[in-house]
Amino acid sequence: MPSINRNILAPSILAGDHASLASSARTVEEDGLAWIHLDIMDGHFVPNLSFGPQSVADLRRTSRLFFDTHLMLDQPDRYVDAFAEAGSDLISIHVEPNYEIRATLERIRKMGCRNGIVLNPNTPADVVQPLLDHVDLVLLMTVQPGFGGQSFREDVLRKIALVHQWRRERDLQFRIEVDGGVNSGTATLCRERGCDTFVAGTAYFKAKDRREFASAIEGTIS
Ligand code: DX5
Ligand code: ZN
Repeated sequence: MPSINRNILAPSILAGDHASLASSARTVEEDGLAWIHLDIMDGHFVPNLSFGPQSVADLRRTSRLFFDTHLMLDQPDRYVDAFAEAGSDLISIHVEPNYEIRATLERIRKMGCRNGIVLNPNTPADVVQPLLDHVDLVLLMTVQPGFGGQSFREDVLRKIALVHQWRRERDLQFRIEVDGGVNSGTATLCRERGCDTFVAGTAYFKAKDRREFASAIEGTIS
């Protein structure tokens, strides 16, 4: 993964065309971006359904993008192997459900992927503190997960700053990612607090000028 000094935009394919995920991925690739965010929902942990490992595997054959897979599942431990085999590069799992988190984080790495840990907006940051030595990414949800197009939760900004402070104090290299309601304005607020990885669905796919939006986020105005 690139250095944490580099900002990354990971467009969320949730806001793309679900009848043609491959064309949405191609759009991201043609815009010169490296990452794509894949939202996996089970209708239990979140009140919505998206797509499964077969779609990810088929997409893998058409795309060289870095697959940032976000599992919103009640039992993520049961599915990490399938999403790793499908070609994910990074798999993020939530702290809220009841399962063996440490073992699952290790399993993701054993399967050859980077791992990430995710916190919902109301979940306190303390929960991840003991896991920070064992993760490649911390994803802080800035909306209640389940749907695209929601408003950014400014109350999460403090949590970003806190996780960033812990990363500095402990000299760690995990990425700090935000997901939900990210646009150029809210991304700036997050960047100021130490965030380096930005998921954006609506703001990217519905942008008037996607490349300009991407440049604003990644800080490489062309
Ligand atoms: C929410 C998903 C997000 C979502 C973000 O459950 O995890 O990745 O696609 O969408 P926007 O950017 O539209 O808020
Ligand atoms: Zn997501």
